Amino acid sequence: MSIRPSTMPKTLLTLLFHHLRTLTTDSALPQLASPITPVSPTHLLRVCTVLYQQQEAPESKLHINLKRCDFELTHEFFLQVCNKFPYSWRPVYKFFQFTETQPHFKHTPITLNKMVDVIGKSRNIELFWEVLQEMGRRHLVTDQTFRIALKTLASARELKKCIEFFHLMDGYDYCYNLETLNKVVETLCKSKLVDEAEHIVTKLKDCVKPNDVTYKYLIFGFCDVGDLIEASKVWNLMVDEGFEADIEAVEKMMDSLFKTNRFGEALKLFQSMRTKRIDDLGLSTYRLVINWMCKEGKLGQAYLVFDEMQKRGIQADNMTLASIIYGLLTKSRVREAYKIMEGIEKPDINVYHGLIKGLLKLRRASEATQVFREMIKRGCEPTMHTYIMLLQGHLGKRGRKGSDPLVNFDTIFVGGLVKAGKSLEATKYVERVINRGLEVPRFDYSKFLHYYSNEEGVVMFEEVAKKLREAGLFDLAEIFSRYGEKMATRERRRNRALEP
Ligand SMILES: *[C@@H]1O[C@H](CO)[C@@H](O)[C@H](O)[C@H]1NC(C)=O
Repeated sequence: MSIRPSTMPKTLLTLLFHHLRTLTTDSALPQLASPITPVSPTHLLRVCTVLYQQQEAPESKLHINLKRCDFELTHEFFLQVCNKFPYSWRPVYKFFQFTETQPHFKHTPITLNKMVDVIGKSRNIELFWEVLQEMGRRHLVTDQTFRIALKTLASARELKKCIEFFHLMDGYDYCYNLETLNKVVETLCKSKLVDEAEHIVTKLKDCVKPNDVTYKYLIFGFCDVGDLIEASKVWNLMVDEGFEADIEAVEKMMDSLFKTNRFGEALKLFQSMRTKRIDDLGLSTYRLVINWMCKEGKLGQAYLVFDEMQKRGIQADNMTLASIIYGLLTKSRVREAYKIMEGIEKPDINVYHGLIKGLLKLRRASEATQVFREMIKRGCEPTMHTYIMLLQGHLGKRGRKGSDPLVNFDTIFVGGLVKAGKSLEATKYVERVINRGLEVPRFDYSKFLHYYSNEEGVVMFEEVAKKLREAGLFDLAEIFSRYGEKMATRERRRNRALEP
């Protein structure tokens, strides 16, 4: 307990103590949001301890003990209590009941949404429903409340209540409203609750008429869960009701068709857009189609589409050009690919990746590494993806095996691991190598690079690069040392940031 000199005004005292505390207490505690009424971490901890230990105690006893905590009840304080118990309705709801006894404290939609979300996450549907009604009665419902309510009820498969909620809120003067419905549908579809979303839309049709936006979200939702048949049904329904498909929905549908190897259907859709709605076709749709055509080796078709796009005055962007470059390379048309590359004033990383990927496909790993050097020289920083592609290109998806231990992928890494003082990991790796074919079909470069993206990695990559250079593998050596260097500067930057 703090000693409180009685001559000081209370607010000044709180400020002062707060200041002292931020200097002395554990910095891992959450920092405060509002500059006017900062939440004291000590008070928060005290209140949460009481709530946790006495959540089953009789109300009167709990309230007496909470009062003894001598804290300042603010909205921020309430929110932070909720944050401490993200999945437990009891302490949070008990605290809410306590706040109801404090005459100067008024809840807002923000505090109640927070609480009702906790109650929903702890799946106390009965209380959840009760609090929602109370929020309606107090007129503190927002679109966010709708999102929380429907997401909770839908994931609990309370379909009847999903519909009932809209009727209930209509009774509290939150009239049926298309915009709110669309927000709900969007939330549900993004949470893979698309069946539930569709159910709600259908059942509410007499109260709220869906529009193209509603259908767009449903189409997205069904495509995302891989149900193209349902997505098509929604599509047809939408067209029957006189809506034109939103261009984003068109692209989503096309992309999903391409992804599931329904090339013909995707192109049919594209074709119908070209004949009926050519003015709606912009860069994004062309880019999508060109990308898939190049990926699938249909370079001739891709060029036709590319030409049409340019004739219509639509400028190609980096991604489209990257697709064409890759497409050309898959057909061994290397010179043309470079020519396009040279025509781009400031290629971005997509273009470099298209070039690298295409060269690697032609088994020209050394040339791909040259592109890697070039991109660095021109100020385009490689990403993890660049490194993974290059390593796979040089070493193969499984890592290279060979009789020469200096060139053998396994020895390189095991050697590196041991030198970096990680003999245990090295042993594990050797075990995996022995079991390879059964358990580890391919080496996970991504995990490997992530795992060594630290101080140890710096040492390890240096060692590996040295060994590779000794073996005459300069390309690989450069890739690794560049990666290590980047880690080193990143670490240094991080350490500097930590210094006062
Ligand atoms: C490619 O990206 C770079 C960097 O963002 C940009 O400056 C350039 O204009 C882009 N080029 C094209 C053709 O869009």
